Amino acid sequence: MQSRRNFVKWTAAGLPLLGFVRGAMGREIKKGKKPIVVSTWDGRSVNNAAWETMRSPDMTALDAVEAAARSIEATINCCVGLGGNPDRDGIVTLDACIMDHQFNCGSVAGLERIKHPISVARKVMEDSPHVMFVGAGAQQFALEQGFQLESPQLSETANKTYQEWLKTSEYKPIINIEQTQSRSGKGGPAAPSFLPDGSFNHDTMGTIALDSEGRLSGACTTSGMGFKMRGRVGDSPIIGSGLYIDNEVGAAVATGQGEEVIRVSGTHMIIEFMRQGKSPMKACKKAIERIYKINPSKARKFQVGFIAIDSCGVYGAYSLQPGFSYALKYEDGAGVLKEAESLLK
Ligand code: GLY
Repeated sequence: MQSRRNFVKWTAAGLPLLGFVRGAMGREIKKGKKPIVVSTWDGRSVNNAAWETMRSPDMTALDAVEAAARSIEATINCCVGLGGNPDRDGIVTLDACIMDHQFNCGSVAGLERIKHPISVARKVMEDSPHVMFVGAGAQQFALEQGFQLESPQLSETANKTYQEWLKTSEYKPIINIEQTQSRSGKGGPAAPSFLPDGSFNHDTMGTIALDSEGRLSGACTTSGMGFKMRGRVGDSPIIGSGLYIDNEVGAAVATGQGEEVIRVSGTHMIIEFMRQGKSPMKACKKAIERIYKINPSKARKFQVGFIAIDSCGVYGAYSLQPGFSYALKYEDGAGVLKEAESLLK
């Protein structure tokens, strides 16, 4: 039987992932999947939400990625939505952005007490002349758009984690928090991605999709780094850092330590590498190498992961540290989960 290590190596370097086949005269022809949905971490359930949406004839990739983000925002988990870990002051602040196939985009950062930041981001995109709203202004905009103000109470799990964290008040981002039962706030042994209550434990949820009409879209949603300083914003709501789409080229979304993604405009860089002819996987790898090169010893202490698809539906992923998984859904593939190749072993 093929070992898991070999399987990962094979899919990372092999033809199916790169999506090339030989045509007449030995010419390389790109053969991707269309439609396709790809999400960070074990996003199989959010991919299903996207897929169901995209099956309706009048729904687009944009509707699909919004549905994906909404589905995870509605569950209790450490890192997305109102059930997520709070900042140091005990307040949950949410970041999200969305982008379509025509460079339309919308974003919210530091949004409090609103259940679906991704839908507020879509409203910013569609019903305002702006791209990004932050803090109190973002909340005011959401309320004006008819969103409901939710309770400021932390979820039971987040409150327990926060009380534990207050004992040391140590700020230490956890690598692959989604794979680690981090409820102690101090990391811990590897544990399943699902919490005992069945909810999902992960970092940023990013979803990119290509619909059958060839429209690419993406969504990114997070409560940000747990116990961040008040006012801190990561990469997730920043177009070109957490998410970027250029329909002629492809789509990319990021997860992990936002500061390091912002420093290199991570997803925009990936699109530009793809424009130069790199496959989605190679483009993600080059962006990770750029992050690593800035400070190799520091890079050992955090995680960044990227996923990308090109306009033909060829997909790829790459991460700094091992342990970054991503989920795929396409016509003949029933919810595939893969582990990305990583720079550090
Ligand atoms: N990537 C999520 C964050 O840094 O906030």
